Amino acid sequence: MKLLTMFMLPLSIFGHSLVESESTDNKFIFDTFQDPKRDTFLWETFPDDFLWGAATASYQIEGAWDADGKGPSIWDTFSHEGGRVYQNQTGDEACSSYNKLKRDIEMLQELGVKSYRFSLSWPRILPDGTAKSFNKAGVNYYKRLLDALVRAGIEPMVTLYHWDLPQDLQDIGGWENEMMVSYFSDYADICFREFGNRVKLWITFNEQIIFTTHGYEIGSHAPGLKHSGYGAYRAGHTTIKAHAQAWHIYDQKYRNKQHGKVSAVFQSSWFEPKTNSLGDKLAAKRAPEVVLGWFAHPILVDGDYPAVMKEYVANASRLQGLTTSRLPEFTESEKKMIAGTYDFLGLNHYTTTYVSHKARAQPRVASFDLDFDMELSQDEAWPKAASSWLKVVPWGLRRLLGWIKENYGDVPIYITENGMSQSGMDTNDELRIKYYQSYINEMLKAHLIDGVNVKGYFAWSLMDNFEWAEGYSEKFGLYEVDFDDPKRPRTPRDSARAYAEIIQNNGFIHPGSKEKTEL
Ligand SMILES: *[C@@H]1O[C@H](CO)[C@@H](O)[C@H](O)[C@H]1NC(C)=O
Ligand SMILES: *[C@@H]1O[C@H](CO)[C@@H](O)[C@H](O)[C@H]1NC(C)=O
Repeated sequence: MKLLTMFMLPLSIFGHSLVESESTDNKFIFDTFQDPKRDTFLWETFPDDFLWGAATASYQIEGAWDADGKGPSIWDTFSHEGGRVYQNQTGDEACSSYNKLKRDIEMLQELGVKSYRFSLSWPRILPDGTAKSFNKAGVNYYKRLLDALVRAGIEPMVTLYHWDLPQDLQDIGGWENEMMVSYFSDYADICFREFGNRVKLWITFNEQIIFTTHGYEIGSHAPGLKHSGYGAYRAGHTTIKAHAQAWHIYDQKYRNKQHGKVSAVFQSSWFEPKTNSLGDKLAAKRAPEVVLGWFAHPILVDGDYPAVMKEYVANASRLQGLTTSRLPEFTESEKKMIAGTYDFLGLNHYTTTYVSHKARAQPRVASFDLDFDMELSQDEAWPKAASSWLKVVPWGLRRLLGWIKENYGDVPIYITENGMSQSGMDTNDELRIKYYQSYINEMLKAHLIDGVNVKGYFAWSLMDNFEWAEGYSEKFGLYEVDFDDPKRPRTPRDSARAYAEIIQNNGFIHPGSKEKTEL
């Protein structure tokens, strides 16, 4: 099938050669999950052009928060306030990736990835958020990074917005202000113009659902607003239009010359009914329509929110005594502008939750969480990562991918984030190895058995980094970073070797079937 050993870096680059992990030799990876139909390990490989990658984001790794003319972002403001982030930690220095470009690329080469997903810091490029504040030094940093990636033969996947909004734009309302559509379009236009000759895969927004709910409704992320019941809907509404505008700019001005693809990255867990009751089953059916569909349905289907979402928010609003829904409406021309503005689907997936039906008492407190008569929970028996919300449930990924195919058709899918957290410093991360093996195996089943059009996979994350409100306490890295050392040394974890092995084999080659490697 592939000439494995001829063009890949030897795994001994990590200091010792790889021993076949015991867990993959078993039929099942986890004691918890041993349903023969669902959980049996599949020894197969991916198509030759499958895009293996690793992912990061600007504020989480770059540091250099005020270097070379960069303006402040909402995360600079938020973390500097104190009382917002675990132990008042900040991304001021983070992994110092702004100054460690060479080492970061070396790590990507050690892993053998074909692609690197990173994000651009908007206030590094446009310090006050607008085109007139163009910062050449910031632009040059990303050109150096892109040039180095090209030299290393690593294809960039570039996210325009991974949550570090220029503070000056938050000062006029941020994503709750419609003007952001044109500010974001200008920014996107500049990025396509400056970097587009080196970039074929663009992401407009990373996880609209997370930064709008956490930033504008719950207040646990920057900008820390608690506009419960309407903040996330309003902010989300703006981001959908901003995404669509940016896609059209690319389509009209750049696609012919640059031949790239543009889409957004959506975050979704898988949702399993908690019991067999009809209420729970219907709630579990609603969950992906609302969570994934809030942002994916307008863009992939018809330019509008899913019908079920409109119905629930309208009813909940009416029960509050409001005369209009808290969910804004798109005009007909906006719907036309939004529908179909994707060239692929980016999916961030980490975990699975149970869903049960739960009707809310009257009068209702308005909030996204309560609008849909559902309650989420997880199973105590599921293996646990360090993040409270993150249980290891590999089969959920296959079900979610199947749901996407069923609802959105054969759209090309890139898994743009998948991974798990640990709390302490430890490079011996057996659970993370199992996480990657099992989730990637479920993606392989979705592809080979269910016919889902999965094109690539990006591990989150290349290295430990600033995990938002959790600071440096939750570590997602294939590489460990020592944040007590000013040099921020990076050390590969065992999972880095395991992921490199999967990439080198382009999937899973049974240790007993050597013929496959020699074909
Ligand atoms: C974090 O900042 C808040 C607000 O300034 C302060 O009250 C608190 O003591 C600080 N916590 C730590 C761990 O420094
Ligand atoms: C929403 O309200 C309409 C009109 O009262 C009703 O027919 C419908 O069943 C309600 N939907 C939900 C999900 O409660």
